[in-house]
Amino acid sequence: MNRIEALAQKEKLSREKVFRDPVHDYIHIQDQMILDLIDTKEFQRLRRIKQLGTSSYTFHGAEHSRFNHSLGVYEITRRIVDKFARSYASQDPYDGLWQTQERMLVLCAALLHDIGHGPFSHTFEQIFHTDHEALTQAIITSPETEINRVLRRFGDEFPLKVASVINKTYENKQVVQLISSQLDADRMDYLLRDAYYAGVSYGTFDITRILRVIRPFNKQIAFDFSGMHAVEDYIISRYQMYMQVYFHPVSRGMEEVLQSLLARAKHCYLNHPDKMKTPIGLLEPFLMNKWQLQDYLSLDDTILSSYFTHWLREDDAILADLAYRFLNRKSFKSILTNNDEKNQLEIALRNELFKAGFDPKYYLSENSSFDLPYDYYRPNHSNSKIQIELVTKTGQVVELSQVSALVHSLAGKTNGDHRLYFPRELFEFLYQIPADQLNEDQRMILVAHANERNDVTHIQQRLF
Ligand code: NI
Repeated sequence: MNRIEALAQKEKLSREKVFRDPVHDYIHIQDQMILDLIDTKEFQRLRRIKQLGTSSYTFHGAEHSRFNHSLGVYEITRRIVDKFARSYASQDPYDGLWQTQERMLVLCAALLHDIGHGPFSHTFEQIFHTDHEALTQAIITSPETEINRVLRRFGDEFPLKVASVINKTYENKQVVQLISSQLDADRMDYLLRDAYYAGVSYGTFDITRILRVIRPFNKQIAFDFSGMHAVEDYIISRYQMYMQVYFHPVSRGMEEVLQSLLARAKHCYLNHPDKMKTPIGLLEPFLMNKWQLQDYLSLDDTILSSYFTHWLREDDAILADLAYRFLNRKSFKSILTNNDEKNQLEIALRNELFKAGFDPKYYLSENSSFDLPYDYYRPNHSNSKIQIELVTKTGQVVELSQVSALVHSLAGKTNGDHRLYFPRELFEFLYQIPADQLNEDQRMILVAHANERNDVTHIQQRLF
């Protein structure tokens, strides 16, 4: 028994605590440290940050928080490592099985893997140059956080170890792969949870079966061959969730409105602060690009939303208009494009928006969203993935796409699309012009728009 394990034994709760969860029924807490991490202010803050950002403008049920998801990833990990301890505990250093003394480390990493997320992370990062992965590391390792203080009960090195699991540098690859790989506790939880709250069935798969067939093997994580269809179903679910939920054009249109709104706010406070009625307050350190960890931890969705409501009353017409659009779900409209046509179409839109009185800097944007549902290992490939491997009863290893025709058809193929976003008023303006009076730019925009609606081959192109 190593030191951490001995300390963890001493800290075991005399009575297990549970949190009721709509996806996993009960989340079981057996350790004082897990309970204390949940009770920190940095973790409680995740209650006020939505997991899916602007997706709830399309799927109104999807209002769940990063708090929910983090607990779910913890619970899936806990179920896996409990099973590993029962069935696959390592007996000697060379058997490639599960090292039971890693339990607390992997549970803490699972619980804290998203701790650095802020409000509307993706968009906020682009405007204010924050980085949620770096912030996750900082929150865990900085002596000024409550999380760090709790983790240090297991020794001064323990926070760094937890951080190294999350940034994938920890030496035991089994521990890393449980949190981040092509089939990990993080992805399993967000697919099930996002599907549940969005009210769609695409993301569902048989997690009970996956938790039965997952196993440590040869110092990696693998799956019993008999579970191939459950793993296959998970990959298909992932593919469909990206296409139907995560890449929904309206949610992305709202993300573009938000990005313009934050960019305009930054412009206004930096260029004519004297004309602003809303005090700059908690955003000041970010606008001045002089923020500290504690400034970041003061932000959440409710703080930003309150700014948006105040900005409605600002004299700056663009700022007030964008705030109105964001608060009232006036999403930007989009046209599907591709790499060949994108530049020309963008110029046409720019010209027409300018004529219609919209500043293209805030009212025209590109959104490209792509995902790779699964890939097998490719040596010499940048960003090569660890493939999903199945183990037969006789101990042979097979890569998933070799035996699943469905996964084979998705493997290595990126799906998604390029879209150009702008206010819907432009369409209203263009559709009023008689067809014989359209100029070349206007015709190009309308043809691109009609193509998307009428042409099946365009839809095919979008997906492959
Ligand atoms: Ni996550």
